[in-house]
Amino acid sequence: TSESDKCWRECMDVAVEVACRAGKVVQEAVKHEKSVSTKSTPTDLVTEADQQVEELIISTLRDKFPSHRFIGEESSAAGEKCILTDNPSWIIDPIDGTCNFVHSFPMVAVSIGFAVKKELEFGVIYHCFDGTLYTARKGHGAFCNGVRIQVSKEKDVSKALILTEIGAKRDPATLNIFSGNIMKLLSAPTHGVRIIGSSTLALCLIATGAAEAYYQYGLHCWDIAAAAVIIREAGGIVIDTSGGPLDLMSRRVVAAGTHEMANYIVQQLQPISYERDDSDPGVQK
Ligand code: IPD
Ligand code: CA
Ligand code: CA
Ligand code: CA
Repeated sequence: TSESDKCWRECMDVAVEVACRAGKVVQEAVKHEKSVSTKSTPTDLVTEADQQVEELIISTLRDKFPSHRFIGEESSAAGEKCILTDNPSWIIDPIDGTCNFVHSFPMVAVSIGFAVKKELEFGVIYHCFDGTLYTARKGHGAFCNGVRIQVSKEKDVSKALILTEIGAKRDPATLNIFSGNIMKLLSAPTHGVRIIGSSTLALCLIATGAAEAYYQYGLHCWDIAAAAVIIREAGGIVIDTSGGPLDLMSRRVVAAGTHEMANYIVQQLQPISYERDDSDPGVQK
């Protein structure tokens, strides 16, 4: 209805404001010494800034929208249930690219997605190093700093640039499948495969047409929620690695500019299995 449309638009204005504010906190924090610890594996890093920025985002939003629900990476790590209900829900990654943040590698973002009845309504992603703001609301197009963006219309895989991410799970079996998938895509041949260390910014590069396809196993709902709206509104495809519809909690995604490109990636991939985000609420994954 136009009433809820107005309501979600207002929520999105707040999301933009808080994402930019949080992004500037991250930008400043990069210049100082970081207190780093690990979560599920020695390569799964977390810093005090991750927790502080999530707290800043959630407390600001909860103040304005007390009846809404919140899913955030660091709240989940602290034991909060990661379950998406029909209620208006905010899905937050306070710092996407924590490892980049630790190294001052300039690919770090704040990501805020919003879903109602499990449908994504809008997404906001702020690039903390260069201040680029990606936004999209369902049915209203996707924008980079207010300028409309569009995915690549390339259908020919031999002309594709492909993005992926490794994630924190580095056991030999996972790495074996992971590298097998990359080798296959490189020998196709495609133009290349890139790993930039931030799922959300990689997905934004699909939305702007800078790359043709993205796939990842092991990402979380907060890595994909905001970006999925941005890519779809930029004319792109976001699906499950099986070729079926995207399930935010399944920890698998293929994104591409065209159906042809998405289908090609789906056919090439050998799956890696991960526990769902909502499979064991409260347990660190
Ligand atoms: C991670 C980054 C990384 C990807 C991981 C994500 P975080 O997010 O996006 O590039 O490989 O799967 O978890 O932990 O830095 O927010
Ligand atoms: Ca993390
Ligand atoms: Ca992330
Ligand atoms: Ca994060």
